[in-house]
Amino acid sequence: MLHLTNIQKSFHQNTPNEMNLFKQFNLKINEGEFVVIVGSNGSGKSTLLNLIDGNLPVDHGMISFMSQNITKILPHLRAKDISRVYQDPSKGTAPTLTIRENMSLALNKGKKFGLTSGVNKEEEEHIKQLLSLLELHLEDKLDIPVGLLSGGQRQALGLLMAVCSKPKLLLLDEHTAALDPKASEHMMQLTNKLVKEFSMTTIMITHQLKDALAYGDRCIMMHLGDVVLDVSGDKKKQLHAKDLVSLFHELSI
Ligand SMILES: Nc1ncnc2c1ncn2[C@@H]1O[C@H](COP(=O)(O)OP(=O)(O)OP(=O)(O)O)[C@@H](O)[C@H]1O
Ligand SMILES: [Mg+2]
Repeated sequence: MLHLTNIQKSFHQNTPNEMNLFKQFNLKINEGEFVVIVGSNGSGKSTLLNLIDGNLPVDHGMISFMSQNITKILPHLRAKDISRVYQDPSKGTAPTLTIRENMSLALNKGKKFGLTSGVNKEEEEHIKQLLSLLELHLEDKLDIPVGLLSGGQRQALGLLMAVCSKPKLLLLDEHTAALDPKASEHMMQLTNKLVKEFSMTTIMITHQLKDALAYGDRCIMMHLGDVVLDVSGDKKKQLHAKDLVSLFHELSI
């Protein structure tokens, strides 16, 4: 469903700081796959997501998504089908708006607002039912401004907001990194549950090797703008943290 072909991406072109990150990058992601990406700092993981959601243009190559060439499609037009959650819990939600208002905006993403917009009873029930999936009792706090929630609660809400419009592709960029170990574990279980509930193709970047092993059905390691490991199915199940750690060490020599 997602196909990146011969992607080239450089930064600071024609300057002394020129960096050719992606030289001939290829990646194919199948519909319904939950792909976990690990890799050293600066290996190009976030840039890859930026190219997929259109936050950065490719220099050369083609991105096709659901059999459509989206290489030159603007980010806001890709956003209907592609949702993203960032590392920073404050990024995906509007702090001065209430939980109800944030959820309403997320549910109406990409739709035109008319005079009848606003949260009606039916939508309120739908919002409460969705919030109950988080198991954080946020359905009892609909009128609380989101800025008053903890980072963990806010990130869980941000994830729900990213998925409730049923995007085809979910991009998670270290979305548990700012959370304490308990909140991070809850967030990962929630992620797994929502990915299944909404049957989304998912790409998740993480530095937590235990999460990379425990979740997803394919694991990719990136290094210097290249894929250096790509395992799925039984091979992924047999992978151990020590295998990933030794590969990290080999690559950094
Ligand atoms: N917009 C940009 N302008 C210039 N350089 C950039 C830009 N985006 C990324 N880079 C460079 O590309 C390289 C890869 O960055 P990227 O953020 O993709 O790494 P990453 O794998 O996500 O790392 P981390 O694990 O630290 O998040 C880095 O050297 C970074 O400085
Ligand atoms: Mg990154």
